[in-house]
Parts: sequence; C-alpha cells; structure tokens
Amino acid sequence: MDYTPHISLVGFMGSGKSTVGKALARILQRPLFDTDSLIETRKGKSVVEIFTGEGEEKFREYERQLLLELLNAPQPAVIVCGGGTPCFVGVMDILNAHAVTFYLHTPVDILYARLKNEAAHRPLLQGKDDLRQFIEELLAHREPFYQKATYTIHTAGKTVGEIAGEITA
Ligand code: S3P
Repeated sequence: MDYTPHISLVGFMGSGKSTVGKALARILQRPLFDTDSLIETRKGKSVVEIFTGEGEEKFREYERQLLLELLNAPQPAVIVCGGGTPCFVGVMDILNAHAVTFYLHTPVDILYARLKNEAAHRPLLQGKDDLRQFIEELLAHREPFYQKATYTIHTAGKTVGEIAGEITA
C-alpha cells in the first residue's frame, strides 16, 4: 500500500506558514490543519487569552497534544505549526518522523516589517521595547530546530504560488 505522509510547515511568526498552507491544501486537495486556529476553536479562546489566562507552558502542552493527534490521523494532511511549536520537548523530531517538513526561511527584515503591527494577536511580541532585536534573538534560538526540517524553502521575494510550487515540485 502506498504511504503518503503529511506535509508540515514550520517557521517563525510572519513567515507565511498559514497562507502557504492554505494554497498547498487547495493544490493538493488535502485537509488543512492550523494548530493555532484548532487550539482556539477547541478551547473557545484566542491564543492571547490562553497565554494570559493559563500561561505559555499550558499552550505548549496543547500544541504538542494536538500535533500528536493530527500526525496520527491516517489521511494525509497539510499541518501548519505555530512558530514555537517545533522548538519544545522533541516536537521537531516527532514531526519529522510522521511528516515531510518544510521550513519557510524568511529574513529578519521581512519578519519585522510583517510583525511590527501584529502584537495584538501574538502574545510573545507584546511589550517588547526593541521588537527587531527580539525577533533576531528568538529566531537565532529557534533556527537550529527549524533547520531540522526535511527541506528549507527560502521565501524572500517569492509569491505564495511560487513557494507552494517549490513545495509540491
Ligand atoms: C508563537 C507563534 C504563533 C502562536 C503563538 C506563539 C511562537 O503562531 O502559536 O502566538 O511562539 O512563535 P504563528 O507562527 O502562526 O504566528
């Protein structure tokens, strides 16, 4: 029997995972699972509300549990991870064992330009005096996890269609 693995997208906030994920799901005719939206639907709260009410640690536990469930589903899907999902307790290794993973590599300048007005939806960005430096440091910390992805796609200067095209090539 043929085995078609899941496709999973990882990368920093603002790297375009959700948008590219939607395009991929449409092209490949697969279900799309976006961990942030699914957690919000299931918990009936926004990510910001979960961070402030229950704490980041709890949110990471929700992400991990959800991913394990999604990766075990038999129908191949497109799974979009939150920016921090693969950087906690062996999650990147679990992802690689059950999916073909793509790191959407995006330069700091582009991330900063996209994220500078986004703090309302992204709890980690709130109250940061020097947002650009924060992004740079967090990205440097996370890069080794992202780099474990099966493939790295450089997104700078490319359209969503071009990125999706590289992933499906
Ligand atoms: C986070 C990224 C967010 C969301 C949460 C934490 C992170 O997802 O999961 O705010 O730790 O980088 P996006 O990457 O979809 O913004």
